[in-house]
Amino acid sequence: MDLIIEGRALVNGRLEQCCIGVDGGRIVAIKKDLRGAKRLDLQDRIILPGAIDPHVHLREPGSTHKEDFRTGTLSAAFGGVTCVLDMPNTVPPTTDLDRLREKRATASSKAWVDFGLIGGLGPKSDVLGMAAEAVAFKLFMGSTTQSNLVTESDDLQRLAGLVKRAGKVLSVHAEEEGMIKKDRVDDLEGHNNNRGPECELHAVRRLRELLPEAPVNVCHVTTVAALKALEGTGFTKEVTPHHMLLDERSGLAGRGKVNPPLRSPEERDAVINAFIAGQFDILASDHAPHTIDEKGQEFNSAPSGVPGVETSVPLMLNLVKKGRLDLGLLARCCAQNPGERFGLKKGRLAVGYDADLMVIDPGKVVRIKTDHLHSKCTWTPYERLEAIFPEMVFLRGDALIEEGNIVGERKGRDVVTAKLSG
Ligand code: NCD
Ligand code: ZN
Repeated sequence: MDLIIEGRALVNGRLEQCCIGVDGGRIVAIKKDLRGAKRLDLQDRIILPGAIDPHVHLREPGSTHKEDFRTGTLSAAFGGVTCVLDMPNTVPPTTDLDRLREKRATASSKAWVDFGLIGGLGPKSDVLGMAAEAVAFKLFMGSTTQSNLVTESDDLQRLAGLVKRAGKVLSVHAEEEGMIKKDRVDDLEGHNNNRGPECELHAVRRLRELLPEAPVNVCHVTTVAALKALEGTGFTKEVTPHHMLLDERSGLAGRGKVNPPLRSPEERDAVINAFIAGQFDILASDHAPHTIDEKGQEFNSAPSGVPGVETSVPLMLNLVKKGRLDLGLLARCCAQNPGERFGLKKGRLAVGYDADLMVIDPGKVVRIKTDHLHSKCTWTPYERLEAIFPEMVFLRGDALIEEGNIVGERKGRDVVTAKLSG
């Protein structure tokens, strides 16, 4: 064994004082007592699985003035996220095998946490040609930042069938393009009106009718009506921190412009309550950094998207501390469920899983400050909100972050090709 980490760990949904034995980057034993290796005693600190954020836009290639694999994955690491799945709407988009390989080469030389690359789909995509090297696939039903669209029912069915054959998951941005209004608007209420809850509901219903057996993950569900419409399907449902903590009245102007839009305060309340009640499967940040200058343009020209990979879990940990959210539920949604859904041996403190961990001191509540964050976009919609950042983060058995400092080597790797090479 290389290392024994001792503390209060979340094992099988319960916190228990135990020793986690690590060897070759994996968890090899979890016992009340373990001996025979270097020991790290964390006393009563809480040990959680590192989070998996299955929805980030790290902007490389093409928009590296907003973010790149280095800054995006550093941001992830400081937020307790040890694995990110990167979306394909880069420039150029990741829509064929060559582009997946190019992106992998870049990411492998820069990533601080593990990553998977999501293949982008358009009506003509060669799904099976990309399948061996993509962690999952993404399809946009409604237009947003740099998106290829798939709107026709027969295309949706054919592509979903191919994704299923490939044994992968299809993440869908569910907003109905034909219902999105393109009216000139100058505030968040207007944006919400252009792409109202009905756009999402209609798209979700169509998915349900067209693809009842497909391995669909519905991205960023923003309304309880859409959530209800997904009941009884095998689809997994993502929720974002911004749709739970922010709304069209949060006073964010263009900075709060995001797709699908921030909703009404009432809807936001209902969505966070549904999350707390365990009705969502996956917490995803939809980290979509744009620079503060881009976001500060007049509303209509401001690009859509908010950053969030670094603040997602810390904001939720603060809800746990306040007694509003169950820690076990949070760990399932931010680690175990995305791990299972996307076929990774990550996201659980269990034997055989990667030793990706975050260590929490629940007493350390801080206020979020842009200056302390690591994204290149240099702003956050959560300025001054309370959060609990991990004190330590481990990636495959090695300490990466300690007390706000990088202490480890950079060793992020692609989860798909790592699996191929054993
Ligand atoms: C995303 C982006 O900027 O890449 N924007 C957003 O508003 N969420 C694209 C997307 O996921 O819709
Ligand atoms: Zn997105």
